[in-house]
Amino acid sequence: MSHYPVRMDVKPEVTAFFDEATNTISYIVKDPSSTACAIIDSVMDIDYAAGRITHDHADKMINFIKDNELKLEWIIETHVHADHLSAAPYIQDKLGGKIGIGQKIMVIQDTFGKIFNEGTDFQRDGSQFDALFEDGDTYQIGNMTAFAIYTPGHTPACMVHVMGDAAFAGDTLFMPDGGSARADFPGGDAGQLYDSIQKVLALPEQTRLFMCHDYGPNGRDIKWETTVGDEKKFNIHVGSGKTKEEFVKFRTERDAQLSVPKLIIPSLQVNMRAGHVPQDEDGNPVLKIPVNGL
Ligand SMILES: [Fe+2]
Repeated sequence: MSHYPVRMDVKPEVTAFFDEATNTISYIVKDPSSTACAIIDSVMDIDYAAGRITHDHADKMINFIKDNELKLEWIIETHVHADHLSAAPYIQDKLGGKIGIGQKIMVIQDTFGKIFNEGTDFQRDGSQFDALFEDGDTYQIGNMTAFAIYTPGHTPACMVHVMGDAAFAGDTLFMPDGGSARADFPGGDAGQLYDSIQKVLALPEQTRLFMCHDYGPNGRDIKWETTVGDEKKFNIHVGSGKTKEEFVKFRTERDAQLSVPKLIIPSLQVNMRAGHVPQDEDGNPVLKIPVNGL
């Protein structure tokens, strides 16, 4: 990348919170020169069979921030997740901070607003979020500058967020032995995903890369941190110079065999509302299941 807009000598303190139920990794990222911090991709707990929502995972992060007397400035969503629910509003209510996502959230809201037959009170303009990022936008976490890279392919609204020498990959890449995320959701595109991954791999090689998910392939322990250099060399889907053509063929064939994520129906309804659970006409929280709609 010719114009790398953040200082790589700034090394944020990154603390990971692994959610066993969904194999998601949430992060608290602290500016090394102040008490400011950001949360990346929080998780709200759901017992879907029981229709019960709780906040144990989010409470762990909230307690960490309180115990360390940090100031939460941002609650970032790398994308609209289809496999877990965001706890962003719950955390914002307790600690403040701005909820940010990619500006293309509007595309997601339009697509799934139709699938879930949302009424006219469901705004499709991203207004549920406090900030909508475009490619290359920068923002501050205390004295540390962050920037967002537009990385569509897994979904149309995906972004990778770079903070000092750390980048949060969202669902572009997995660990080198995990490869890449699926590209078959509505608006997903394997060719676009390949191009987006190249943008991430164009970051300086020593950039620390933090994953949103890990499934411990081949029985290994869960891991979430690698580097751009290691992804370039070793990623099983895109590393060591794999071509776009090879990637698209492989990704398309693989995606055709994957089953639908268990939590896709509640996740989309909640996450396209910035983590708010939809309500019925009496104001009670309620989720829909469109039959044969997805
Ligand atoms: Fe995802």
